[in-house]
Amino acid sequence: MIVLETERLTLRTVSLDDAEFILRLLNEPSFLRFIGDRGVRTIDHARAYISSRMIESYERNGFGLWLVELKASGGPAGIAGLVKRDTLPDVDVGFAFLPEFWSNGYAHESAAAAVRHGLETLALPRLVAITDPDNVASIKVLERAGLRFVRMVRLGDDVPELRLYSSDGEAP
Ligand SMILES: CC(C)(COP(=O)(O)OP(=O)(O)OC[C@H]1O[C@@H](n2cnc3c(N)ncnc32)[C@H](O)[C@@H]1OP(=O)(O)O)[C@@H](O)C(=O)NCCC(=O)NCCS
Repeated sequence: MIVLETERLTLRTVSLDDAEFILRLLNEPSFLRFIGDRGVRTIDHARAYISSRMIESYERNGFGLWLVELKASGGPAGIAGLVKRDTLPDVDVGFAFLPEFWSNGYAHESAAAAVRHGLETLALPRLVAITDPDNVASIKVLERAGLRFVRMVRLGDDVPELRLYSSDGEAP
């Protein structure tokens, strides 16, 4: 199902048929470093992840991480969307792309569309985002999407501090 369209991109729900793409994306060094290791190593793991995490979020929340496809080729380039984490009270914005698609503004285009969708269509009171202080590209994407730096946060024991952003410059 198509959820959002931008000038160059289509954002649609992920299905079990996207397992090969999700397997590759979740094992990219950049994903492992800046987002984390989801332990997805096989096509079957990827199918289970899509079902228990991505489709589960669409059903539970009415939003989630969507597949970003290029209109020009029809092929998948990354994921972007909205995530409700147990560790944060507000809904947060997430995105990740395969390296061959970086630096084309696709992350910005899809993240900005997800932010507008969350605040305008879903009328969420606030959106937040967290990112590693070394993730310069992600920081640029968040700031260009209109999010503002709030403070450093630590979302668990023995995990590094992250930069917390929000749509209104505040976050509990
Ligand atoms: C973060 C990520 C999605 C950015 O993708 P992208 O395609 O480069 O993003 P964009 O093309 O929209 O560009 C973002 C900006 O960062 C810049 N940029 C890209 N890579 C950069 C780098 N390594 N260092 C500094 N700036 C960088 C771009 O030039 C662009 O700058 P501009 O806004 O001044 O033009 C991509 O690096 C990625 O998938 N990383 C792994 C997953 C991840 O970290 N997700 C975010 C978690 S919070």
